Amino acid sequence: MNTLVTKLDHKWLSLTLRQPWKTAMAGSKLSTLPPEPVIPSKKPFKVELVGGKRYSWCTCGHSKNQPFCNGAHKTKAQGLSPLRFVPEKDATVWLCGCKHSNNPPYCDGMHKQDFIVSATLHEQTDS
Ligand code: FES
Repeated sequence: MNTLVTKLDHKWLSLTLRQPWKTAMAGSKLSTLPPEPVIPSKKPFKVELVGGKRYSWCTCGHSKNQPFCNGAHKTKAQGLSPLRFVPEKDATVWLCGCKHSNNPPYCDGMHKQDFIVSATLHEQTDS
């Protein structure tokens, strides 16, 4: 058993010394974290929802159809996807515009926090 371990250790050590970057990166990706959302608005959106209808709330902030998804996340924020929800009944609600609510898709007042107030608004572009 000790011989086997020694042989394996020797091979690992040999590979590590010759190509240390390959060993260190084996099985890992450079970035596995999803992108951070951009802030399209520092105020919530007042929306009249229809009960039983399916909605897709934009989580990435890149949609030009705020607060709803327009598919922009597929090219501008890979790793993020819309939050789909179906309200039980017709209602007028405030949907989060800063994309940092702890109760998405609804506004929880997070846009009043200093890090949102002092943040730069994202400019929607065609690119
Ligand atoms: S465009 Fe933002 S989640 Fe789809």
